Amino acid sequence: MDDTTAPQSFLPAGSSPRFQKHLKHFPTSAYLRKHAPRNVPRFAFEYGDTGAGNDVGVEHNWSAFDNIKVVPRYGVMTRLPPTGVELFGTRYAAPIGIAPMGGPSIVWPGADLLMAKAAQAARVPYTLGVAGGATIEKIAEVAPDVFWLQLYRFSKNDHKIGFDLVDRAQAAQVKVLTLTLDVPVRTTRSRETYAGLGGAFKPTPRMIYEMMIRPRWLMALLRNGYPRFATIRHYAGTGAGTNATIDFARSEMGGAFSWEEVKRYRDRWKGPMAVKGILHPQDAEKAVALGIEGIWVSNHGGRQIEAVAPSIDCLPGIVSAVGKKATILLDSGIRSGQDVMRSLALGADAAFAGKSFLWAVAALGDDGPGQLIDLYIDELRAALGQIGAQNPAEARNAKVLHPGRIEF
Ligand SMILES: Cc1cc2nc3c(=O)[nH]c(=O)nc-3n(C[C@H](O)[C@H](O)[C@H](O)COP(=O)(O)O)c2cc1C
Repeated sequence: MDDTTAPQSFLPAGSSPRFQKHLKHFPTSAYLRKHAPRNVPRFAFEYGDTGAGNDVGVEHNWSAFDNIKVVPRYGVMTRLPPTGVELFGTRYAAPIGIAPMGGPSIVWPGADLLMAKAAQAARVPYTLGVAGGATIEKIAEVAPDVFWLQLYRFSKNDHKIGFDLVDRAQAAQVKVLTLTLDVPVRTTRSRETYAGLGGAFKPTPRMIYEMMIRPRWLMALLRNGYPRFATIRHYAGTGAGTNATIDFARSEMGGAFSWEEVKRYRDRWKGPMAVKGILHPQDAEKAVALGIEGIWVSNHGGRQIEAVAPSIDCLPGIVSAVGKKATILLDSGIRSGQDVMRSLALGADAAFAGKSFLWAVAALGDDGPGQLIDLYIDELRAALGQIGAQNPAEARNAKVLHPGRIEF
């Protein structure tokens, strides 16, 4: 993964035996998605894969990427380009990260830890969701060099829990703290609801049957339990079980941070900070004016509302507004290293993925997250080489056809 030792040949960069073994069966993330439902209970797959409403927002995210085309230049490349980048003062192996997720352990018990360990091994950013299934302190142990943390709004008692989480993050030496702004209300994800999930975990006979016929998932459950809201359990009272913790978290957490609140968190947190869920350049400008260093352009992977603009279509407007003053991160719809290249070509500094890491862990268990990181890096290398970019930054020189670009 060292960016100074890019292979001189045209062979794929990811050459570990594990990578080559799985590549044959899962040559792209689409194969992981196809295989994932065979290994996990239906409700688990539906939770991780669903969008809001009828998934139209998810499909729009994907087609927005598919419609972006780059005009390659030739006669410049003699080797596969290196992929290393610096983000907020830390060097990473590639501009590719794992987006924060609440409840990945529903999809695969223990998924948070698997993703964090794989990111540490590959040296790419891993973002723990505050509603995830591992504690801040545990992730600090297993992924100290790549640990980013996402927070939702815990505003009761003048942000008592929220500020305590900031202090825990500081003690754990989290690299980047990000506040999610795009969940002002709770919306319905129909496939998740229809599959029997929502609120506390009360398995119906159908869900129990779905678990029984998925032995690999059951083994993961036996090994790891059903860890949910691990970081929040601390505040729910000693001995709080999973469902009591879920109820507690839901009663405490909610609403979107106001700009005044963002400012208070900015003042308390001593490291780099990003705001996530930004789609409008004026919101990006507001954040930068408050001293926020990272703008995370995202529509939550289409999970909040169908009628939302694809984040990639909003990206150029945001890059024009604040690209010189802030680090620009992007997610929602990434399914390949070519999508990462498209994001870089349009001005992002790094791209993140959510759902596809859940497909990977569902399809391949322990090997899944590492396999997908390697696949994305490999695909990114090939895509950069193919368009004539010598490194990730040079992707910006490419001529891009982007019919969905939104003019603000
Ligand atoms: C199962 C799941 C749970 C998520 N939970 C959170 C969360 O707790 N906080 C957050 O900021 N984003 C959350 N997201 C959104 C992701 O951080 C990210 O924005 C999105 O998944 C990116 O789109 P993609 O899934 O198309 O890659 C979640 C996404 C998924 C799939």
